[in-house]
Amino acid sequence: MAIISVINGPNLNMLGTREPSIYGAQTLQDIENNLTQLAQKHGHELIFYQSNAEHDLVNKVQQSKQDNVAAILLNPAAFTHTSVALRDALLASATPFIELHLSNVHARESFRQHSYFSDIAEGVISGFGPKSYELALLAALPLIEQP
Ligand code: DQA
Repeated sequence: MAIISVINGPNLNMLGTREPSIYGAQTLQDIENNLTQLAQKHGHELIFYQSNAEHDLVNKVQQSKQDNVAAILLNPAAFTHTSVALRDALLASATPFIELHLSNVHARESFRQHSYFSDIAEGVISGFGPKSYELALLAALPLIEQP
């Protein structure tokens, strides 16, 4: 059994009502419930965290080692395109992470096509709506099941 941290950045608390044509109709709670079931099937525990504040996200990432987190599933939301601080926190924590997005950021505005995380992530999943979270969890399994 491993602990996987699922960290969501700003405005993802608004899922369900936020631009549903882009982000879908599921709430963050719906996504977390589905993900919990999938994690349980694979015998792992999830910790969920969402914040609109960059420093809170940095603090949460910094705590990863103390929390015994084996991997992070990260949707940095708008901080994807702006946050050197969150990038540095991930490098400092040295916890493997998967970057994920509900929308296909490469098919959107040009400012969304640069990420401060993609080059240091284990991999990136983008564009599958709420399924992006499930795909990220499945992608994390081999990382945490290494001896
Ligand atoms: C997002 C994409 C970002 O560009 C945007 O700022 C978000 C959500 C996504 O999940 O598609 O808030 O990370």
